Amino acid sequence: MNNFFITLPDNSYPVIIGNNLPIRDILPQYVSGQQILIVTNQTIAPLYLSALQEALTQYQCDTLILPDGENFKNFSSLSLIYDTLVKLNHHRTTTLIALGGGVIGDITGFAASTYQRGVNFIQLPTTLLAQVDASIGGKTAINHPLGKNMIGSFYQPKAVIIDPIFLNTLPERQLRAGFGEIIKYALLQGGDLFDHVLAITGNTELKDIHWEELITWCCQIKGSYVEQDEKENNNRALLNLGHTFAHALETYTQYQCFLHGEAVGIGLYCAALLSQRVGRLDANYSLQISGMLTALKLPNRIPQTIDIQKLYDLFQHDKKMLNNKLRFVLIERPGLCYLDDALEKKDIIDVLMEAVEGD
Ligand SMILES: NC(=O)c1ccc[n+]([C@@H]2O[C@H](COP(=O)([O-])OP(=O)(O)OC[C@H]3O[C@@H](n4cnc5c(N)ncnc54)[C@H](O)[C@@H]3O)[C@@H](O)[C@H]2O)c1
Repeated sequence: MNNFFITLPDNSYPVIIGNNLPIRDILPQYVSGQQILIVTNQTIAPLYLSALQEALTQYQCDTLILPDGENFKNFSSLSLIYDTLVKLNHHRTTTLIALGGGVIGDITGFAASTYQRGVNFIQLPTTLLAQVDASIGGKTAINHPLGKNMIGSFYQPKAVIIDPIFLNTLPERQLRAGFGEIIKYALLQGGDLFDHVLAITGNTELKDIHWEELITWCCQIKGSYVEQDEKENNNRALLNLGHTFAHALETYTQYQCFLHGEAVGIGLYCAALLSQRVGRLDANYSLQISGMLTALKLPNRIPQTIDIQKLYDLFQHDKKMLNNKLRFVLIERPGLCYLDDALEKKDIIDVLMEAVEGD
């Protein structure tokens, strides 16, 4: 088992990572009162909900099963959580448990941050993407029809409990999508992690990956960014590497075309091309990034059907915009990324065109 703390001025919390964790013993340490609401979805509930309920029989343990999908990361799902909490008389001492991927984690966290001005919540992530990234750091949100994650808050969980055993039932496409964020961490961190991920993409079967080690590595990196800059006033924005492109692609395609991690893969490749275009990144690295994505069967090109000007227009809704200026995370080399808000529109458009699939 790998445990570490995310240390923050007001809300420090443990991240507990291990195979077959004794959930019955661990969870009660982070439950505040006598009431629990487990929030999950239609896909995860039949697999894991009853076992979790059985581990919590000493509590008033209520459940809410939401419809599955990014399209349901919206006001209606949020309202369903509030409705359930109010109807079942959950008090300020209640604890919300997010049992699911990043969608469930983000909505449940947002509900917890606003119900009765803030109640306890625990992250129990069940996808690779949520285990390496979304469950850590306290960003909570729902989508607005015009932009992803536009309504949200910073609200830290009481604990993040990560069991790679959940990955056994995760569809392969979802597992691969988790690598969008893992490659992001490899680019941010460089060094041993970059070499490790490069080796995995070179010749390792997914079934042979030592998940506990890889997840711990990514969580610790994310944790260190969060500890330095909890509310993203500064360097935490680097964690958005590839995400300006990814969020615009997801919004454009109305979440029907790409999984989040897949869109991040395309975004990483676009960020590499843009870094190359402004003379900061060697072309060999762009090729290497493209090769890693391809080896993992992740997309790295923008579909031909996408109108590049309309995609560019969606960047205007990006949360990284400051004072009306677009800000991109660019790469100088693995281990050295930086924020740039002085890019020319022409360079960005040219790079988007260059990233379109085809020759
Ligand atoms: N808060 C953050 O810091 C942060 C960071 C990265 C991403 N995100 C958000 O996370 C979301 C993407 O998360 P995701 O990739 O986990 O998607 P997801 O939550 O939609 O889960 C992916 C799919 O896998 C299914 N699933 C989950 N666990 C399973 C399991 N163990 N077995 C079988 N099926 C399972 C889900 O039902 C869903 O169909 C996006 O909304 C993104 O914006 C948030």
